[in-house]
Amino acid sequence: MTDAVSYDAAYASWQADPEAWWAAAAEGISWTKRWDRVFDPSMGAYGQWFAGGMLNTCYNCVDRHVEAGRGDQPALIWDSAMTGKVVTHTYKDMQTRTAKVAGALAALGVGRGDRVVVYMPMVPEAAIAMLACARLGAIHSMVFGGFAAAELATRIEDAKPKVVLSASCGLEPGRIVQYKPLLDLALEMSPHKPDSCVILQREQCLAPLTPGRDHDWASVEAAASPHDCVPVLATDPLYILYTSGTTGRPKGVVRDNGGHAVALWLSMKTMYGCDTGDVFWSGADVGWVVGHSYIVYGPLLRGCTSVMYEGKPVGTPDAGAYWRVCAQHKVKTFFTAPTAMRAVKQQDPEGKLTAQYDLSNLTALFLAGERCDPPTAVWSHEILKKPVVDHWWQTETGWAITSGFMQYGLFPFLPGSGGRPCPGHDLQTLDDDGNVLPRGTTGNLSIRLPLPPGCGPTLWQNEEGYRTAYLSDFPGWYRTGDAGVVDPSGDVWVMGRTDDIINVAGHRLSTGSMEEVLASHADVAECAVFGAKDDLKGQTPIGLVVLKSGVNRPHAEIESELVALIRERIGPVASFRDARVVPRLPKTRSGKILRASIRKIADGETAPVPPTIEDPAALDEIAAVLHRAR
Ligand code: COA
Ligand code: AMP
Repeated sequence: MTDAVSYDAAYASWQADPEAWWAAAAEGISWTKRWDRVFDPSMGAYGQWFAGGMLNTCYNCVDRHVEAGRGDQPALIWDSAMTGKVVTHTYKDMQTRTAKVAGALAALGVGRGDRVVVYMPMVPEAAIAMLACARLGAIHSMVFGGFAAAELATRIEDAKPKVVLSASCGLEPGRIVQYKPLLDLALEMSPHKPDSCVILQREQCLAPLTPGRDHDWASVEAAASPHDCVPVLATDPLYILYTSGTTGRPKGVVRDNGGHAVALWLSMKTMYGCDTGDVFWSGADVGWVVGHSYIVYGPLLRGCTSVMYEGKPVGTPDAGAYWRVCAQHKVKTFFTAPTAMRAVKQQDPEGKLTAQYDLSNLTALFLAGERCDPPTAVWSHEILKKPVVDHWWQTETGWAITSGFMQYGLFPFLPGSGGRPCPGHDLQTLDDDGNVLPRGTTGNLSIRLPLPPGCGPTLWQNEEGYRTAYLSDFPGWYRTGDAGVVDPSGDVWVMGRTDDIINVAGHRLSTGSMEEVLASHADVAECAVFGAKDDLKGQTPIGLVVLKSGVNRPHAEIESELVALIRERIGPVASFRDARVVPRLPKTRSGKILRASIRKIADGETAPVPPTIEDPAALDEIAAVLHRAR
């Protein structure tokens, strides 16, 4: 059934019998015990998939491919433009290393259900760390390297890991990011202390180890006895991935083992057209959901070769870096963020560098992480002369909600559209009262429950928070937090978030959490952070602050303190470079800050004066400040 030949047939087949559809897909996974029920509606917030089934995700990603005789096939190609190295791990290598690292973790007391925080750069050991946890039935929680110590501390505090796996450093163009001092600081800040830390020493910078707590990765891996795969319930958590919510506290999205394996295994072929032996490359960071799903789990579940790239789209060494990687490793499907394509376009506007590389193996470019602006989609299509597929998803969903499908035949190219709903999703737009809107009407993009396998079933130890954040506004539906429209042909157009989340260079950030940081500055009375349009990053945050009365220090001095404060508390990833002192914030008579109007002014659009505004002159004052050059 899942091999249906057209999109319409596939979607209709899923709709006719969702459980049969997913049960058929589940045949692609090796189970140690088959499920009791494909879907059990009585479990969790809205039901759970493959209840009673048992499997091991690492076994499905690694061991079974070795057992099938593909041990010598490359599983992970690490291409580091930062160091000039390429290292290939075969499936056999991955089996040996994950078994040893799992053994090392077990020796440190990690077992099924224990948490392990992984704070690592783009090195093969990051993938090995994740798989080693999966092998033990332990729950990993990756933290992206661009976050500050305070963000790492919040995640450690919430996940309460037994062990933290980290590295001495990450490599960013022009600087070495020392991870160990950030980790040490985070551990000082967090009330929860792990028993041990295992540190991968990279030659670019060796980290001092704290005796009794810290262990050298290479030594513990070498000394460990290999550990076998531990079967877990399909409904047991595989990982927790924290993502920005609407408050300062990030949300710990939980991913289960069974549904996740089934959905990702299926998506590799239906969406990306990749099967066993094909080379797939996702240019994301392994610390984000795209990296979890499509650097590590998806490609390996399917027996593909996955490329992990430590580098940037430009500057490492030039705007041809992506094409070099695609050609060198014979990439069949490449996935990146629109912002990366905009970076390439800025430096190589005619795409001349593509001519230097043999891209004959490349069949398609997939884009996600933010809405792809039509000019970037068109340009990418023109320079590559390959299909360009924008697909829409979220950390919470773990894979695409809407997409184009290599297996079913791609839809006509519609720049700006995110494709059509993946079988498994009944996607509708709802009005603010939860009524389904007719096609062609903009509304709250929402998915009728249950969510398909692979989507996050809960938040870590916070089911109530899950219900409040996603399920309670529209009973019977999952609210995505995005606004958009499903047009009469079924194509979906995602317009943007309905909450305070912004997307900066494909990185998801909360303006609410930035406001909390700005408000903690001694001179700030109130503030508003919003995302303004940016040619490269899609959006960048701007912070407007009103000073406490009596503060008469130079504004420029306070503004640079605020920029430094966000970098220190949230991290460089926030790309927060613009804070401006304003006399007051425009508000409604009931005291609500008019963020949408402020954003429009910053973007150079005309901001209609809302009838509820307290004093229209406040908008003119903001315009004067925002239009002041920096
Ligand atoms: N560890 C530490 N710091 C990091 C980091 C990491 N893993 N990733 C980013 N940073 C830092 C950067 O060095 C930069 O620091 P700076 O302020 O000192 O310059 C800051 O965070 C902002 O990074 P970013 O927003 O990524 O901007 P950039 O100018 O470094 O690069 C792009 C811009 C477009 C090249 C880059 O964002 C990019 O490649 N994006 C594509 C990502 C992608 O493919 N995502 C797929 C998701 S679906
Ligand atoms: P993240 O959880 O970091 O993957 O961010 C998810 C959010 O990014 C979504 O809710 C959207 O707002 C946005 N997003 C991701 N992919 C797309 C896309 N293809 N089109 C439009 N918005 C997208």
